[in-house]
Amino acid sequence: MPNLTIQEVKEKLINIVDPYNGKTLGENNAIKHIGIDPDKDLVVLIVSIGKMGGLEEKAVRRALAKIVKIDLGFKGVKIQLEEKRKLESIVNRNVKFIIVMSGKGGVGKSTVAANLAYALKRKGKIVGIIDADIYGSSIPQVLEMKHEYPKCAEDQKIIPLEAFGMEVISTEFFAEEGKPIIWRGAMLGNMIENFFYEVRWNKNTDFIIIDSPPGTGDIPLDIRNIVPKAEALLVTTPHLAASHVAVKAGFAAGQLNHEIIGVIENMSYYSNPVNGEKEFIFGAGGGEKVATELNTELLCQIPITQPTHHLSLYESDEEIGKIYDDLADIVMIR
Ligand SMILES: Nc1ncnc2c1ncn2[C@@H]1O[C@H](COP(=O)(O)OP(=O)(O)OP(=O)(O)O)[C@@H](O)[C@H]1O
Ligand SMILES: [Mg+2]
Repeated sequence: MPNLTIQEVKEKLINIVDPYNGKTLGENNAIKHIGIDPDKDLVVLIVSIGKMGGLEEKAVRRALAKIVKIDLGFKGVKIQLEEKRKLESIVNRNVKFIIVMSGKGGVGKSTVAANLAYALKRKGKIVGIIDADIYGSSIPQVLEMKHEYPKCAEDQKIIPLEAFGMEVISTEFFAEEGKPIIWRGAMLGNMIENFFYEVRWNKNTDFIIIDSPPGTGDIPLDIRNIVPKAEALLVTTPHLAASHVAVKAGFAAGQLNHEIIGVIENMSYYSNPVNGEKEFIFGAGGGEKVATELNTELLCQIPITQPTHHLSLYESDEEIGKIYDDLADIVMIR
């Protein structure tokens, strides 16, 4: 085995050019890891490149192998290439991703996603929200945001907009005001990827809360591929029909390997202000049923109440705001 230090190996590799942008691996700060296994006479490399899957990738792979094996004389080389934008994106940072899912529409996913995010923010966390409900996006309305196009940073990354002290990205920001978004499947997939890879999220982000469309379509699948570590929160109403569909969504989340944090039962009851009694307008037991069937926990039951300070967000001095504070605690200690 050649008697070389990691630094010496690195010096040989930094002059390889990544054809994607014509710069060297050194200039691109692309060599992320070098390991030498003396027993196997092997070099292990993790290198970021501009583009995967094409001739550019092959060229870099070949150049690395040539230097390690032929020029330096190691017996073997193990090369892991990663696309730069992915490797350096928020996905590879120490951030907790929570995807809010449901089976049925209209059960309060977007409201729950925004309020959980806001409760975490109240607790001092740095929070971003990804509105992954491409066609039915409602996060901008929930957060009372004016229509505005996001700006581009010097490095071409998209700067997220801000609402209530949180960073937000939504397809709605890229559409003309009030116009529906009609995108084909491929663009849609890219859009979701871009929200993770091309947005300049705060460097110290603690949580990314993802609002998803109802059901178990392609988007949770896309998100699984982008952030395998995302955990799921399931929202249902107490109605047994809703919970039936929520169970299906839960199984789908399980199949996608998203760990399920628990179930949120929304619109659980209405506290009659006249006699103070709870009225179970949408039935009862749905949340408990979903939690039992999925072998997880019912985390909270949120009553039907209009917020007093904002359009859809609740503050800590409101009953529902306190419930969201407790939910934030649960999520934070996990
Ligand atoms: N606990 C609640 N009390 C009163 N109103 C609520 C409550 N939760 C949600 N709502 C209202 O119910 C409606 C539907 O909520 P929301 O848009 O969050 O549901 P969703 O599951 O995201 O819907 P979609 O499937 O269309 O994305 C909204 O008008 C929202 O303000
Ligand atoms: Mg929604």
